[in-house]
Amino acid sequence: MDQVQDGEAQLMYLTREQERILSGEEGWVKAKALRVIVKVGEALGADELVKIRHAHVSGISYTNIGEPGLKFLEELAENGAEATVYTTSNPTCIDLAGESSLIDQGYLDQQLLVNKALEKMKIKPTYTCLPYMLRPPSPHEHLTWGESNAVAMANSFYGARTNREGGPIALLASITGYIYNAGLHKLEERCVKTLIKYEDKLDDLTASLLGLWIGENIDEIPMIELSTIPRIQDVKLLLASAAATGSHALIVIKGLTPLKTYIEDINDKITIRRKDLIRTYKDNIWSGKNYSLAYIGCPHLSATETLRIIKLLEKKYDRTMGKIILSIPPLVSSLFRKELEALRNKNIEVITGTCPVVARFKYRPDIIVTNSGKAFFYLRKLHRLDVRLASLNSIIG
Ligand code: F3S
Repeated sequence: MDQVQDGEAQLMYLTREQERILSGEEGWVKAKALRVIVKVGEALGADELVKIRHAHVSGISYTNIGEPGLKFLEELAENGAEATVYTTSNPTCIDLAGESSLIDQGYLDQQLLVNKALEKMKIKPTYTCLPYMLRPPSPHEHLTWGESNAVAMANSFYGARTNREGGPIALLASITGYIYNAGLHKLEERCVKTLIKYEDKLDDLTASLLGLWIGENIDEIPMIELSTIPRIQDVKLLLASAAATGSHALIVIKGLTPLKTYIEDINDKITIRRKDLIRTYKDNIWSGKNYSLAYIGCPHLSATETLRIIKLLEKKYDRTMGKIILSIPPLVSSLFRKELEALRNKNIEVITGTCPVVARFKYRPDIIVTNSGKAFFYLRKLHRLDVRLASLNSIIG
């Protein structure tokens, strides 16, 4: 057992390099950051730290963190805090394209100061909830990600290891390059207890419904057995929805989650059908002809999804149904500038680097429809809006 600087007993084993950082040899900011990681880790029962390859910092929206959060980030940046591993950033509360009719840009200046502080710390200005699109993780790799949908994808789809961390811990892990070896970083904590068989075809609507249902009804780590191989966009919706209504950070998808990244000790088996999901959520499923707003892109649309939706909208979209908002990462926006400009002339709005859930709105739409269970859950809960679920096909017309 070693002693930390302030004389408190230290329970965690530290390497020489970690001891050096703690003693301040690499600056007091890094030392303080590591001290927090060690203390939180000890509280969680971790006995060592692990090196991480990628941090993803959530909680960067000015609407959420306000002046205290901005000051915290600015102070860190001014005192020389810097990312020591590849670090990406979650969406902001403003539309970085600056053209949205929905997103209130009232906090533009403050959000830009948040962004400036992050960039000064060498955090990539990615402003998306798809960190895996920018750097797909490898199985068993340790990460520290905030943002629940991304965490669920990292663990469940890529077989990487990250807990569902808050923004501050993700930032401190980025500065130190380490996180405590606890929770989903350990194989024995990645133990499946419940098998859920879903025997019908999965589409975007049923993926969201199944995710909402799992989040509301299953507490332990489940394994889903599907009758067909799901599309990645449906896996995203399922995991994001389950992570919204529950605390899920790992849902094993049989045949998709890399083997040996989880263990099985199944003691409960459940079969659920499409008709059960439709019956359970029937009051929340859109059945009208028009909407004031359709929101697609929670989680953000990847480049492949954006291209597919652009083609679909060019071919099929009936603009009399209502306005559509697509939410995409800045990188994707720069890839399809011309195509997205053409959509903007058709009652379709494209917002970039933002998240309506953490933004303020310029007006209150009467009915929002979405294919995202996560957006459905949070727009109702946080914005108190009338939100209904629908498949992308029924939204486009
Ligand atoms: Fe992304 Fe916001 Fe949805 S962060 S997952 S668009 S709630």
